[in-house]
Amino acid sequence: MKILVTAGPTREYLDPVRFLSNRSSGKMGYAIAGEAQRRGHTVHLISGPVSLVAPAHVACSHICSARDMLDAVMAHLAWADVLVMCAAVADWRPRRVASQKLKKTDMQAELALERTADILEAVKCKRRSNQLIIGFAAETHDILKYAKKKLVHKGLDLIVANDISRKDAGFGVDTNAVTLLDKKGGQWELPLQSKNNAARSILDWVTRYFDQTSQLR
Ligand code: PMT
Repeated sequence: MKILVTAGPTREYLDPVRFLSNRSSGKMGYAIAGEAQRRGHTVHLISGPVSLVAPAHVACSHICSARDMLDAVMAHLAWADVLVMCAAVADWRPRRVASQKLKKTDMQAELALERTADILEAVKCKRRSNQLIIGFAAETHDILKYAKKKLVHKGLDLIVANDISRKDAGFGVDTNAVTLLDKKGGQWELPLQSKNNAARSILDWVTRYFDQTSQLR
């Protein structure tokens, strides 16, 4: 299979030295890309700025902003059998970007923001029905309720609900606690485990999905 994986944060600059971003390290997305490559799939990774090295034999596009990530995902979407949208994409960016460093005396206490494009919403309009689209939901509370909403609104086949209220799960750490929810109502709660093992479970689900759909044909 051809698997497109996004990972890491985006950066939304307000001048050449300042930006809005988040704590995503890229570890979860890189683990999925590495595991997919070890299983013999062809993998393309689209990565925000992180300090990780792309897994061997994985093609990687390095991007910075949410707009760059949208462009890179749309450029590779037709190629992919599976998209795994693990990146923590900024929902807001500064309305104005200064070309020169802002002086603190020129800055306002309040920053004017505008929404970034929702990449999965854009994917929903362009995807083929035989492509598998997987999203993540990083939540601190009512995790399954919000994840189910995103599964439906973003037109996903599977969502990985990520409990980020725990210190040992989610952003930055080596372990994760996730529940897989599919569009048919299936639900699989995985125990706290390494991000590599969580990646294996997600890819096991992908394999089972394609095995079942090929049996139906
Ligand atoms: O990188 P690590 O440190 O290993 O951390 C892993 C992780 C916590 C970042 C990862 O497991 C995770 O949960 N990723 C999704 C983070 C997130 O942005 O979730 P969200 O609930 O805000 O977004 C829901 C989905 O919409 C995600 O698939 C996201 O990629 C996508 N999205 C979000 C915003 C946007 N503008 N466009 C999008 O497509």
